[in-house]
Amino acid sequence: MDIKKVCVIGAGVMGSGIAQVCAQSGYETNVIDISDDILKRGLENIKKSLSKFVEKGKITKEMMDETVGRIKLSTSREEGAKDADLVIEAASEIIDIKKDIFSDLDKICPEHTILASNTSTIPISLLGSVTRRQDKVIGIHFMNPVPLMRGVEVIKSLVTSEDTLNISLKFVNSIGKESVVVKDSPGFISNRIMTIFVNEAVKLYEAGLSTIEDIDKMVRLSFNWPMGPFQLIDLIGVDIVHDMLESIYQETGWERYKPTPLLKRMKEVGWLGRKSNKGFYDYSE
Ligand SMILES: NC(=O)c1ccc[n+]([C@@H]2O[C@H](COP(=O)([O-])OP(=O)(O)OC[C@H]3O[C@@H](n4cnc5c(N)ncnc54)[C@H](O)[C@@H]3O)[C@@H](O)[C@H]2O)c1
Repeated sequence: MDIKKVCVIGAGVMGSGIAQVCAQSGYETNVIDISDDILKRGLENIKKSLSKFVEKGKITKEMMDETVGRIKLSTSREEGAKDADLVIEAASEIIDIKKDIFSDLDKICPEHTILASNTSTIPISLLGSVTRRQDKVIGIHFMNPVPLMRGVEVIKSLVTSEDTLNISLKFVNSIGKESVVVKDSPGFISNRIMTIFVNEAVKLYEAGLSTIEDIDKMVRLSFNWPMGPFQLIDLIGVDIVHDMLESIYQETGWERYKPTPLLKRMKEVGWLGRKSNKGFYDYSE
């Protein structure tokens, strides 16, 4: 089966990035979210990102226009997903939301459609269990920012078929990304490592060992990483990092993944990082 039409659920940080790379690679791409305003904002972010590629001479203005022309927005799952060959769900990291989406997609989509999730931590088998096509449910986990980061984890549940896996790997390759196959386990590879690292940094700060700026500085200078843990949390989203930790903790009971109280408090007051202009740093300027 060749993938021709892609549907992306969620037009947030990840969904808009995923839609962009799919459309840039020539796929007709429908994007679904819960409101027109969110969809419009998502499309604006895609245009901003594409404009930067044009400015740097990586793509032409015509290529940008063609890419945007392949993207269609809708608030209706039915309209956006009914003829998709592949659906990539990138909605909020909340189990009930994702279960509802998967069970609905199972009813809406043709039999051959592969249902993929960009979830950071939720077991793929759990999402598959609400469908009648568990063999066609898979994890395709992109990294943030999607247009720039090349690595993609492809997560195979106990019952994901080899066919689904091979089609998904071919698709990931066709959009210019490199994949690794991972077993279905909480946090997979990348977030098992990343969440514990950033949670530990927040614990150091809470314990008064150093400042946010100095912890970030030390990590950048010591490991030659482009950003420190607090900059990374702000980029990913405080809420997303909190929810990932909580989800791994709930799934495994491993105390080391328990989100620090500060992450919880920041999520409650809406200090979500770059997307809300305030996180560990201030972005209002
Ligand atoms: N932020 C990251 O760095 C990152 C990296 C890899 C994976 N992820 C995963 O990607 C997914 C999305 O994360 P994000 O950072 O883009 O979050 P986000 O908050 O930026 O976007 C989530 C979007 O989902 C939409 N949404 C919520 N319920 C919906 C529904 N029922 N139908 C359609 N859309 C709905 C919201 O309106 C929002 O636009 C999560 O599963 C997250 O764990 C995030």
